[in-house]
Amino acid sequence: LTGYVTLDVGYKNTGATKSAITFLDGEAGILKYRGYPIEQLAQKSTFLEVAYLLIYGALPTKDQIQNFQKQINNHTLVHEDLKKFFDGYPSNSHPMGQLTGLISSLSAFYPESLHSNQTPDEINETIIKLLAKMTTIVSWIYKKSLGHPVIYPQKRFDYVTNFLYMTFGQRTEEVTIDPVIVEAMNVLLILHADHEQNCSTSTVRIVGSSEANLYSSVTAGISALWGPLHGGANQAVIEMLETIKADGGDTDKWINKAKDKNDPFRLMGFGHRVYKNFDPRAKIIKKACDDILEKLGIDDEVLDIAKKIEEIALKDPYFIERKLYPNVDFYSGIIYRALGFPTEMFTVLFALGRLPGWIAQWKEMRENKEPIGRPRQIYIGETDRDYVDIENR
Ligand code: SDX
Repeated sequence: LTGYVTLDVGYKNTGATKSAITFLDGEAGILKYRGYPIEQLAQKSTFLEVAYLLIYGALPTKDQIQNFQKQINNHTLVHEDLKKFFDGYPSNSHPMGQLTGLISSLSAFYPESLHSNQTPDEINETIIKLLAKMTTIVSWIYKKSLGHPVIYPQKRFDYVTNFLYMTFGQRTEEVTIDPVIVEAMNVLLILHADHEQNCSTSTVRIVGSSEANLYSSVTAGISALWGPLHGGANQAVIEMLETIKADGGDTDKWINKAKDKNDPFRLMGFGHRVYKNFDPRAKIIKKACDDILEKLGIDDEVLDIAKKIEEIALKDPYFIERKLYPNVDFYSGIIYRALGFPTEMFTVLFALGRLPGWIAQWKEMRENKEPIGRPRQIYIGETDRDYVDIENR
């Protein structure tokens, strides 16, 4: 038996979560947000529009998206006292540890978000603040990794451009953000925006089901995402590709290591709990990889190694029998690197993309007044036994 076994023994049936947000067919490799195919959204939409779609359930009109953007731009500044928390982090501390602490600390500045009987408008205010401040905090974390001063947000930019401006901007000169990078970032964030009941989203829902506030629930999701088997895989993929490159690019050797039961090495970026076919996001990212590296005139040897690994693994019976295909993390790190991000930032960028999905799922769970999450278990421990005094043990 794997995963939860629901024991309907007089408790409310704690069966599968019911959600209207994302549809995923792992056998067919299909992913849809609120009924819209991921391929169409990646090609035609923007990340902010997809965030609106996930959270409110419909594609926004022009007025709605302009108002959404305006509301967000009114909240991108972060309380100066929070910056004192931020300044205390060592510059080489992992960005995910900083993100966990800073997002959790937002609740200290917005006590109105703590009470569990928030009105829909109050909940929406909290959602807007979190979406807005996430971009500023993520860009701060990047600047700290470089030892550079932080850049403050500008109201004249859209959501993704503002993030890139705060991330790559300089205080000493006006920096123009390359539209190629803006487009690439929108696609990457759209592809990461939601993915039904993955590890981190399930964590957000179960924490939120106790009526914990949104900041705390999302902080729990960030912690779950950090693991290398989940969001941390995008960093692990690049580290793996770099190791193979340093080892002379011997892809056959490393594929054999991944197949060796006595070797703990796994092919990072391959396999999925649900997809037993190609992850549709991986297909889109692989094409985006080629386009962006060509447009930016970058020739990245690890991309060649990644393609070689994919080509060999997809023909190898070990991977075919286990239905192991490249997942969203296999190529995303190569693009992030091409855009200038260090590997330690990759999972933070995954969290930036996943934030609207976490928010939408938390909001749905609260609106549906779902009972507190309480998975059951199969007890496999000791049978009855009596206490033994320490002298007789
Ligand atoms: C994400 O859930 C989501 O939606 C997640 C996500 C999202 O958007 O939120 O899609 C994001 O987390 C993608 C996954 C990123 N993680 C990785 O790329 C890490 C590497 N992948 C594996 O660790 C693994 O594939 C998992 C964790 C992703 C899935 O694990 P499963 O489904 O529990 O598979 P398993 O551990 O039961 O393995 C089944 C078999 C085993 O071999 P046998 O015991 O049957 O002989 O497949 C083998 C495993 O050893 N296997 C691998 C492998 N993944 C599974 N062998 C080599 N390399 C791998 N990557």
